[in-house]
Amino acid sequence: MGWSLRTIADLSDNEFAQWSKLLEERAGIQLVPMQKSLLQSQLTIRMRELGLDDYSTYYARVTDGLQGRLEWSVLIDRIAVKETSFFRHRESMEFVRHYLQHKIDNRQLNASFDVLSVGCSSGEEPYSLAMVVNDCFELAHLEPYYGITALDISNSALTKGREGRYSTRSTEHMSGEEISRYTSLCNDGHYEVVRKLRDRVCFTHANVLHIKDMPAVKMDVIFCQNLLVYFRRWLRRDILNSLSDRLKPGGVLVIGLGEAGDWEHPQMQRVSNDAIQAYIRQEHKKQ
Ligand SMILES: C[S@@+](CC[C@H](N)C(=O)[O-])C[C@H]1O[C@@H](n2cnc3c(N)ncnc32)[C@H](O)[C@@H]1O
Repeated sequence: MGWSLRTIADLSDNEFAQWSKLLEERAGIQLVPMQKSLLQSQLTIRMRELGLDDYSTYYARVTDGLQGRLEWSVLIDRIAVKETSFFRHRESMEFVRHYLQHKIDNRQLNASFDVLSVGCSSGEEPYSLAMVVNDCFELAHLEPYYGITALDISNSALTKGREGRYSTRSTEHMSGEEISRYTSLCNDGHYEVVRKLRDRVCFTHANVLHIKDMPAVKMDVIFCQNLLVYFRRWLRRDILNSLSDRLKPGGVLVIGLGEAGDWEHPQMQRVSNDAIQAYIRQEHKKQ
């Protein structure tokens, strides 16, 4: 019988606990028992590709030194949920537009406008941000002086982001005007993001758990949506605190609605708009 046809036993509760612990320690992702069959199917697909038929041998391979790091990056690619789309949460994007427009109108923009998209997946989120930011610069007849750093733990997602080619499904929340201004239709029916936006987005492989080790460039906007939901509450708090420290004074942190309802920070003021969850960094501690 060929390797690919071998039967692999079901993942036991102990094995599920062992893999869940590894995923949480390394990527922050917390699996719930309902996700056991999903984890099992991803593990067995990969084990068949490698010709392995027991979880412990594969676990040893994933955790084995340098070789293990390479295998880990393949595995996390398969397990991370990468669902996304352009303008997934329109209200949050419009908030960024108004924030930048206000800065331009009040001549508060005296350096590059820097944006960070954390857990950017295949690029739809950072490109949506690029569209909004580019709109503001064009409307004000200003040179587009901005940069967007997009980070994710999944290499395959980042590769897709760098290619910048998308199916019609990803574009369903875009207006006709946004599609025509910022994409071109390819012969195979895909939409390609225009070069002037692609040049502004820098895709970077990074683990948000190690954000403190990244170069401390201060940002105007940090966008982090649909990532924290996979993490425990204490970890969400730690990450939000670290992200806040990466903001310029007056910079904004935009997260997904309800992703960290009880989070507070002495220098971060929640924006009073129930449709979004955003915080502005105060120059001084809140009273
Ligand atoms: C559900 S997608 C959200 C994409 C986008 N932010 C949005 O809202 O549409 C979550 C992304 O977070 C990434 N991710 C998961 N754990 C991560 C970690 N520890 N560090 C960086 N990115 C991570 C996944 O690879 C995935 O692309």
